[in-house]
Amino acid sequence: MNDKIPSAGSTGASIPASTSSLHAKNEAWSGRFSEPVADFVLRYTASVGFDRRLAFADIEGSLAHAAMLARAGLLSEGDLQAIESGMAQIRGEIERGEFAWRPELEDVHLNIEARLTELVGDAGKRLHTGRSRNDQVTTDTRLYLRAELDVIVGEIRRLQRALVELAAMHTRTLMPGFTHLQVAQPVVFGHHLLAYVEMFGRDAERMADARRRINRLPLGAAALAGTSYPIDREFVAQRLGFEEVCRNSMDAVSDRDFAAEFCAAASLVMVHCSRFAEELILWVNPRFAFIELPDRFTTGSSIMPQKRNPDVPELARGKTGRVLGHLVALFTLIKAQPLAYNKDNQEDKEPLFDTIDTVRDTLHAFAELVPGIVARPDAMREALRQGYATATDLADALVRRGMAFRDAHEAVGRAVRRAAELGCDLPELPADEVQAFLPGIDPQIVAEMIAALTPEACVAARDHLGGTAPAQVAKQVAFWREKLA
Ligand code: ARG
Repeated sequence: MNDKIPSAGSTGASIPASTSSLHAKNEAWSGRFSEPVADFVLRYTASVGFDRRLAFADIEGSLAHAAMLARAGLLSEGDLQAIESGMAQIRGEIERGEFAWRPELEDVHLNIEARLTELVGDAGKRLHTGRSRNDQVTTDTRLYLRAELDVIVGEIRRLQRALVELAAMHTRTLMPGFTHLQVAQPVVFGHHLLAYVEMFGRDAERMADARRRINRLPLGAAALAGTSYPIDREFVAQRLGFEEVCRNSMDAVSDRDFAAEFCAAASLVMVHCSRFAEELILWVNPRFAFIELPDRFTTGSSIMPQKRNPDVPELARGKTGRVLGHLVALFTLIKAQPLAYNKDNQEDKEPLFDTIDTVRDTLHAFAELVPGIVARPDAMREALRQGYATATDLADALVRRGMAFRDAHEAVGRAVRRAAELGCDLPELPADEVQAFLPGIDPQIVAEMIAALTPEACVAARDHLGGTAPAQVAKQVAFWREKLA
């Protein structure tokens, strides 16, 4: 075989193409082998370039495992103390950036174990009793993901709070509500913003729900069948803050649905961010001019001096694609694996890590951006006028005077067409014109009805739970303020 093939994409990119140190035997499993692994195989299979992110989770998991072994009489108190002080030293080395990561040791687990043994001798070699990297890696991933998920939920909450405070300033700011991106009916800007607060609220619920299934302990499953040592899994679970213990060892080492579930929840977060991004991009366009974004969130063009580009929302919209891609990658990774552990699972990490980073950073960017949004009520109002947004309410008023809805719809439709010809809004239509559309009705009454058709009246009339009346929107602001306090 040709061992000079270039490094294999992201899996090997950070690893030198050929160094003599790569030929070193992996002490953790080399006993059965007569020659060292080929360099390119090493580069292809090594994961330490990316799974070193799990280092602190790995140490935490190992300390709980060691404490359990000591309690079960499988490790002496002296060995436990040696492991604890060695791990403290390793943690410090990693924090200070002094830890020498060795690609020939494959992954984060073997790197830490080798360094531990270097530091404390035989005690380090005893740590792996009753454990396998198969249950170790998924324990680490769950611990790491649990902590990151909590950070992400914190960012969701922060973004929600920012949206609620902006909504609080705009419970009476009129804007067109759209369907088919055509002006439909008047709403208040705060109502529109609170729609996103609801979406992100469900995202936070989904994260909390996924967390329950992430927060289960695989350790103790060992390679796949459990272990013949008298282990105490409940003790380890309690120490690591896991709510439950995985009940089937084969499932425990092979399941990655917890990661896929997180990525599904994260995908919806991104989809919601992307919808919001799309609206921001439309709203800052001078044709809409509904809002302005602060300069610190926009960029200029190197060729067109007039440009102010909404790069942050555009990137959020763009990054949504890769998060959705990671979800598909994970589903595909899982779908054809026979039980139990397969090395395929090492491929769960990069999609998962990138999802975590992207979602966290995107939420953070929006939480920073939202307080800087400045609404332009005049432009919103002008769009309402041009869109004949009060037409539905005119039809409803005619129905209340006894006209059949279909007839009212037809009559108002013709009135709108005439108003468009004359370039005016419905209330500005001359009385005799109006009369032509509504022959059976007293012209005075019709004129009063039309004059009363302000966008203010339209929104105020939708005064029920979930409606856009300013009073209702103010109530929702109060609801969310309390919920997010
Ligand atoms: N680096 C591996 C992973 O991420 C750890 C588990 C390896 N287990 C094994 N039997 N080779 O999945």
